[in-house]
Amino acid sequence: MDADFWHRKWEANDIAFHESEAHPLLVRHFGSLGLRPGARVFVPLCGKSRDLNWLLGHGYELAGAELSRLAVEQLFAELGVTPEITEIGPLERFAAEGITIFVGDIFDLTHEVLGPVDAVYDRAALVALPEPMRTRYAAHLAHLTRHARQLLITFDYDQSLTVGPPFAVDEHEVRRHYGAAYHVALLEKHPLKGGLRGKEPVAEEVWKLERR
Ligand SMILES: C[S@@+](CC[C@H](N)C(=O)[O-])C[C@H]1O[C@@H](n2cnc3c(N)ncnc32)[C@H](O)[C@@H]1O
Repeated sequence: MDADFWHRKWEANDIAFHESEAHPLLVRHFGSLGLRPGARVFVPLCGKSRDLNWLLGHGYELAGAELSRLAVEQLFAELGVTPEITEIGPLERFAAEGITIFVGDIFDLTHEVLGPVDAVYDRAALVALPEPMRTRYAAHLAHLTRHARQLLITFDYDQSLTVGPPFAVDEHEVRRHYGAAYHVALLEKHPLKGGLRGKEPVAEEVWKLERR
């Protein structure tokens, strides 16, 4: 999954991963992170997710990272705000009241540029990446956010039945990436209605990660 794969998807508007409403697991479980009002939440590989609107609507300050400038232009257009755009090395920073999105490769984002965050919300980010990129991503994310607590949504299914993304990430793998530095707790697991792409049976899982 190189950058071109994702740029082509956005250019073709082939974005089946994009949901029209906030994710039910975000709505049900974000409160379990126990954040203070106004806490700063980082959303890696954010696309133009409606989850961002939900988080903004609940008074959180948002930071995001997204490869596709097109996605981020659409995000701000849909929010109805005009961002201030600045270049920071290989990245662009789109900023408006309460929201900052870094456009470019998340691996080019540093803690110094991102700034402190109180929590991470990962939906369709870890599972969007193939191995060994997931290992690199999980280590980078932990370092970037100084092990901020995290709500993580994953899919678990038989990877031999179909190709990703989204990729299957089972409990063993979640613990392999995060178990050493975080307490890992499964908050909910359920079969995804209709299966993956309407076919393969798949479990959707939501995890809370808290720094040890
Ligand atoms: C499966 S989509 C999920 C988007 C969003 N989280 C959602 O739930 O709708 C994955 C997103 O990650 C972005 N992406 C992929 N690789 C990236 C990278 N290395 N750095 C930043 N964004 C990346 C893609 O452009 C795409 O928008």
